[in-house]
Formats: sequence, structure tokens, C-alpha cells
Amino acid sequence: MTDERKPRHLAIILDGNGRWARRRNLPRLMGHRAGLRKLENMVRLVKREGIRYFSVYAFSTENWNRPSMEVAGLMSLFRYYIRRKVDEIKAEGARIRFCGRNDRLPPDLLQQMRWAEDYTKDEKILDFILCINYGGRAEILDAVNSIIAEHPDKPITEQDLRSHFYLPDVPDPDLIIRTSGELRLSNFWLWESAYSEYYFTDIHWPDFDENELRRALDDFAGRERRYGGLKK
Ligand code: IPE
Ligand code: IPE
Ligand code: MG
Repeated sequence: MTDERKPRHLAIILDGNGRWARRRNLPRLMGHRAGLRKLENMVRLVKREGIRYFSVYAFSTENWNRPSMEVAGLMSLFRYYIRRKVDEIKAEGARIRFCGRNDRLPPDLLQQMRWAEDYTKDEKILDFILCINYGGRAEILDAVNSIIAEHPDKPITEQDLRSHFYLPDVPDPDLIIRTSGELRLSNFWLWESAYSEYYFTDIHWPDFDENELRRALDDFAGRERRYGGLKK
């Protein structure tokens, strides 16, 4: 595989935890637990592929609309996952980063997120980006509002916007995978996905494995990206 055929930034919309659980007559939270567990191995596989940035959509700004029990359960799972897995992730040479709005997240979780970022900040092999309380519209609005606050009269450029996004140094996603059959972005990487390639699979996230990843990466390797220009 030449470098161009491999995504530099792979993004995954982790969907289908609820359906995975329902199919097994389990509570939805068990699906979320299985989904988070899956991530450990995925970090290892993605690193083995030589991918530099790996982002996952774990909780959207719209997911607050779910029943409060489910939301609280997810927050607890995030707490547990960060505490228990940070060492393994660091041992892989991965730097943990969080992407999203800080408001509404429980203060102790936020504190733990900041700690995990700091604890892994010197790792350079892979950036593992967890998008929690992330929404593409919120990100664009937050960027626009901070630019206006800094320079009220200046026309906004694309560069201004990018430099005010949550993670300005992270390149746009090359490949976005969505599991579980839904053919939509659900407010993920809205601006950044302008020229992303998409890959959809019916597999529920907790069942996504090495073979599925291989299939998606092979498919990506055969895509021709033109960015509005002419065929090479
Ligand atoms: C994805 O699984 C995880 C989150 C959005 C938090 P879902 O909970 O959306 O699973 P389905 O779509 O109901 O199966
Ligand atoms: C998208 O999944 C958000 C995450 C995976 C975190 P949803 O399950 O929330 O999306 P919709 O509601 O089906 O569009
Ligand atoms: Mg869903």
C-alpha cells in the first residue's frame, strides 16, 4: 500500500450499540459497554496499519436528548474506560485527545479527560481522538463566535475558521466509516468532511473487527480522490 492509499486520518461513527444489545435481549448500556471495549483492540489495529490519526464519534451534542439513565450510564462508562485503559493506550504510543464542547459534561469526567490528555501528551505514534459532546454545527459556531470576539470587523477566512476548531492541527478525515447501516453523518466532522471518503457497513459497532477494518481500508485504497480537479 502506498501512502496515498492509506488514510492519514481515519474516523469512525460508532453506531449500533443499542441494536447489538437488543438483538441479544440485553439492556442498551451493555451494548455501549461492548462498544467501548471494542475500542481497545481497534486502537491496536489502527496503529498497526500505520494510520496517524484515529477519531471516533462516541457521544454527539444531540445524544443529550436520550433518556437520562442512558446518558448517565454512558458518562459512567466513559469514566471507567478512561481510568482503566489509559495505560494500555499509552503503551501503544497513542496520545489520547478529546474533541467537543466542555459544557454539560460532569466536572469529574472533564477533569479525568484533561488528566488523560496530559498523561499521554508525549506519545507520537497515533493520536486517538474521542469525540464526546461533539457536534459539527457547534464546532463551527464556537469557532465563528471566538473569531468575532477577537476581530469583530474582519471578514472570516477559511484559515481563521480552521485555526479556531477544537483540534486545529488534526488533518481532515480521509475516510469516515459508519457502522450499523445508517447512511448519514449525524453532525460529525461537518466542515472537515468536505472531501472525505465514506464507507458504510451494516455490522453493529460491537461486532466490527479486524476483517471489517481490512475491508474498509481496501475499499478506500481503490478510491480516486479528485478534490474537484481532473483525473490524474
Ligand atoms: C452508538 O450506538 C453510541 C452512541 C450514540 C452513544 P447507539 O446507541 O446509537 O445504537 P443504536 O443506533 O440505538 O443501535
Ligand atoms: C451518531 O449516532 C452519534 C454517535 C455515534 C455518537 P446516533 O445514533 O446518535 O445518530 P442518529 O440519531 O441515528 O442519526
Ligand atoms: Mg444510533
